[in-house]
Amino acid sequence: MKTTISDVSSYIGQEVTIGAWISNKRSSGKIAFMQLRDGTGFIQGVVVKAEVDEATFQTAKSATQETSLYVTGVIKEDERSPFGYEMSVTGIEIIHEAVDYPITPKEHGTEFLMDHRHLWLRSKRQHAVMKIRNEIIRATYEFFNKEGFVKVDPPILTGSAPEGTTELFHTKYFDEDAYLSQSGQLYMEAAAIALGKVFSFGPTFRAEKSKTRRHLIEFWMIEPEMAFYEFEDNLVVQEQYVSYIVQSVLENCKLELHTLGRDTSVLEKITAPFPRISYDDAIKLLHEKGFNDIEWGDDFGAPHETAIAESFDKPVFITHYPTSLKPFYMQPAPDRDDVVLCADLIAPEGYGEIIGGSQRAHDYEFLKQRLEEHELDLEAYKWYLDLRKYGSVPHSGFGLGLERTVAWISGVEHVRETIPFPRLLNRLYP
Ligand code: 4AD
Ligand code: MG
Repeated sequence: MKTTISDVSSYIGQEVTIGAWISNKRSSGKIAFMQLRDGTGFIQGVVVKAEVDEATFQTAKSATQETSLYVTGVIKEDERSPFGYEMSVTGIEIIHEAVDYPITPKEHGTEFLMDHRHLWLRSKRQHAVMKIRNEIIRATYEFFNKEGFVKVDPPILTGSAPEGTTELFHTKYFDEDAYLSQSGQLYMEAAAIALGKVFSFGPTFRAEKSKTRRHLIEFWMIEPEMAFYEFEDNLVVQEQYVSYIVQSVLENCKLELHTLGRDTSVLEKITAPFPRISYDDAIKLLHEKGFNDIEWGDDFGAPHETAIAESFDKPVFITHYPTSLKPFYMQPAPDRDDVVLCADLIAPEGYGEIIGGSQRAHDYEFLKQRLEEHELDLEAYKWYLDLRKYGSVPHSGFGLGLERTVAWISGVEHVRETIPFPRLLNRLYP
């Protein structure tokens, strides 16, 4: 019977065959332990000299790391392994022998591993992170479908810039200038007016010369947008969504979280509602914590965000930032025009901002004036202004950065391990 590692629990006491690779191995004169992986999981194969023919034992002893093979054996429960099962090997058929696999069980430097990302992905740790990423994506679709959102795909090639013009990837679009999308938001606003509640999930690009553990040049964003939702309604969607994905990972990725050594007790506390703190109060809090240099009107850096987050054991919304720090499209607060109806959601444990969101300005004249203040080309935004011309309504939305969220939930230090092939400053290979 041919099966996969993920399905072995259905075959306890039975002999099965699995197509696999050897991820690691150790042996003595009498026994060989093969760590096998098949993509669906990892299992230990035990080859006992006295129980197999001589050729099989010799094959097990000499097989090299990442050699592919069909391995046949009997599935047994094994309480010592976190996976819970192992295989008593009865036969081995080598498919392809791997010679001098570069990533050995010893420690390698980050640059070396990044140069071999196409192979590094096979490791147990990277496998766990990719499975958690996949679970977050699965739970995202489940959550928004359950809540009645429609998935809408905004374009990647665009003529407008929602998040400021300094970080755009420029390209030619035949005779016109075009940019790779830095956010689908403006298009999602049009979609929300057409379809009510919508979300997008796609790649976004920032030509940011940042080299930090939180920055990628190409990253994936989930961008919901809702007609008739005001500032506070928007926060409720965000805290419910983030709680939902954390609880889904806790439920469905127990083994992966164990592989990564993630402290799950901190994740168990992540349930809605989340605390909120205004920008004004966040500045006061920072002063109390000894950050004397920061003044009202300054943007928060990573150390500030981390210090604010430390006061809470859940993600925290920092709300009502100064208008001058945020993009042109945000709705001003009703009682004062120096702050906007926005919130950044800051993850605990130093992972920083995972969501940026706001209520959108819906008054035509006001928005036009904001575009002019930001020296943006009105022609390129004519269609966006149209949304405020024909049945304009209050509406809100947000963008969640997938990789920062995967990093936080997985407990992985750097976003480069949270996307299959990271695009970083100075890295386009592999
Ligand atoms: O805060 P940002 O720039 O917001 C927007 O783009 C809005 N237009 C979204 C919206 O309202 N529809 O980006 C949103 C999130 C950030 O909170 C962060 O998680 C992630 O995207 N992000 C990055 N992730 C990795 N690398 C980068 N360079 C990132 N820039 C933003
Ligand atoms: Mg932001």
